[in-house]
This record gives sequence, structure tokens and C-alpha cells, in this order.
Amino acid sequence: MQGVVKSSNTSKLVSAMTLTKLGLTHVPQRYVLPSSQRPNLDHIVHSSTSLPIIDLSNLQNPSLRSHTLDEIQMACKEVGFFQVINHGIPLSVMNDALDATTEFFNLPMEEKMVYLSDNVHELIRYGTSLNHVRDECYFWRDFIKHYSHPISDWIHLWPSNPPTYKEKMGSYAKVVQVLQKQLMKVLLEILGLNPNYLQNEIEKGSQVLVANCYPECPEPDITLGMPPHSDYGSITILLQSSPGLQVMDYNKNWLSVPVVEGALIVQLGDQMEVMSNGKYKSAMHRATVNSHKKRLSIASLHSLALEKKIGPAENLLDKEHPASYKEFSFKDYLDYISNNYILKGERFIDTLKKNP
Ligand code: OGA
Ligand code: NI
Repeated sequence: MQGVVKSSNTSKLVSAMTLTKLGLTHVPQRYVLPSSQRPNLDHIVHSSTSLPIIDLSNLQNPSLRSHTLDEIQMACKEVGFFQVINHGIPLSVMNDALDATTEFFNLPMEEKMVYLSDNVHELIRYGTSLNHVRDECYFWRDFIKHYSHPISDWIHLWPSNPPTYKEKMGSYAKVVQVLQKQLMKVLLEILGLNPNYLQNEIEKGSQVLVANCYPECPEPDITLGMPPHSDYGSITILLQSSPGLQVMDYNKNWLSVPVVEGALIVQLGDQMEVMSNGKYKSAMHRATVNSHKKRLSIASLHSLALEKKIGPAENLLDKEHPASYKEFSFKDYLDYISNNYILKGERFIDTLKKNP
């Protein structure tokens, strides 16, 4: 029912966790995707060339730096995706954040329902699928998302149960924010911009943490955990507990992202595609589910501040290279998704293209 905003806390919610506990042998009809949109799990493609693993410590080594920058640049142009290792974030901080996520989703339903909302503008939001009120077709996913930077502005809104949630997620949020700033400098440099371009806006930008839970699913080949989409922001830094993320390469093949211990996934978002005037691609990705193991992921979505508009960088434009995109803000994106339905196959970024 598009356009109808229900008072969310009165809506009943059947989470993916609840369905898994019921031990169903089939997914409910609402989760069954049209056959053209189902994942082909018999045909898992791994490609190390399209999904590079970048050793960030090589950027400190004068003899390896330029080759590493070339690798990152190639990844940004083709798919908008790479993984990073030696990024400076301790494995223990990453594992603690995943533990806090596990414990949160293991809480009794009543405790999670406190945060239930279908309003995408909410500051903290628990839910299932993408939007439990609007979605016609459901996805096998539960989530909690909240703003995270600067942490002192938001942490009081975060769950106080499990008791270690704030500390563990908080530690992770802070170090990921630092990594994000380092990565942005590198991405701006290889775009040919001043690495300090938009420095203040990036410093004061928004960070939204999304903890996703994809419990065991009886029919993983006819449903998805998340439909194909690109993220709205500049970059997303993602941590996954087990395989399930797939990225679309330039030939429109879905590639499965391998889990590399200690690695973090970097995906470019729509703000980066727009800012680079199309030189970089925002990564199209989706989450598959499986029947044997619950999967968790934590996405840290970085963008400029909520109302800050971003357009193609002036220095990349001239007579031969006019702006290909209109400017937009994170808030424009939220307004868009509160009125449009993602499964119709529309992408927000396509609405920004001047000559689609
Ligand atoms: C997201 C997302 C993928 C995953 O939260 O935007 O794409 O693997 N998550 O959970
Ligand atoms: Ni995403």
C-alpha cells in the first residue's frame, strides 16, 4: 500500500528470525520472488580480478604505492568494489561488533519491537525485509540501523540491551569512521582531485550503521536477503560473518564475494558516482541467503551530511565533459525511497542522470 504511513508500533511483525524458529520447510508465499529475479545459487561465480583484495599497508611503501593506487582506480571504474586488508582495525573489534549483533537479534521479540518503524527518516529503526509496511515482496532479512557519527550525538538512542551493544558497536563505529576518511582521501587523489577536497564535509558527514541478520532459510534459491541495489552514500564499509554478498560486474554477472578473515569490503555509493561524474561506479549488490547457517553483516554507510547536496566535482568538468548528473543529498534519497518501491527495478541514481 504505497503512500500510506501506518503508526508502525501497532503493526504486527513477523521477522525472518521468527520464521526460522518455526522450522518451516517452505518460505511463505510473500517471500517467493518472480523467477527472473531469483538467485542462481547453482552457478556461483568467484572472480579475483573483478573483486580485488587491496593491502592498504602497501600505500606506505614507496615502491608499491603507485601500483596499489592503480588497482584501486581500476576497481572503482569497473565495479565500484574492493576488499581491504591491513586496514588498521583489529580483528577483535570486528568480532566484538558481530557478537553484539548476534546478541541483539537473539533478544526476545518485545525488546526489538521497541525500535520497530517503517519510517525511513527515523533515527533508529528495527525491521524486517526492507520496509515491513510497504514491501509487497518480502526479503529474508532482519535489521537494526542507527546514526553513528559523531557518536556522542546518537549513542543514547542505541539499544541498551544487550548491555555491551553500545560499547562494542561504538568502538567499531569509531574506527570505521577513521578508515572511511583515509579511504576517501585515496579515492579523491586517484580521481585527480585534491585529497582535501570536501574535507570539512566528509569530517562532518553522516555515518549510518546497519546490522543485518539473515537467518537460515528453507528455500534460499527462490528468495533473497536483499534485492539488487546500490548504496546512496560516498562509500559503504561492510563486514560479513559468512558468504552471501554478491556484486554485479561490468558484464552484469553476479559475483560472490569471498570471506577473507580480517578483510573489510568497500563499496562505492551513488554520491561517489555523482561526484566523479560517472568515472567511478556505485556498486550494484545483493544479499543471498542459505539453509544451513545464519549470516550477519554490518554495513557502515558514509555520506555527506543529511541535507548537504553533492554534484559532480567542478574540477572534473569542462566543455567536453559536462555534468552528467544532477546534485542530490542523502535526504533527497530518503524522500525518494519513502515514495518509490525499489523492486520495480528503478535505481535512484538513474533519476539523477541528465542524459539517461
Ligand atoms: C546493505 C547491504 C549487504 C549484506 O546493508 O546495504 O547491501 O551483505 N548489505 O548484508
Ligand atoms: Ni547495500
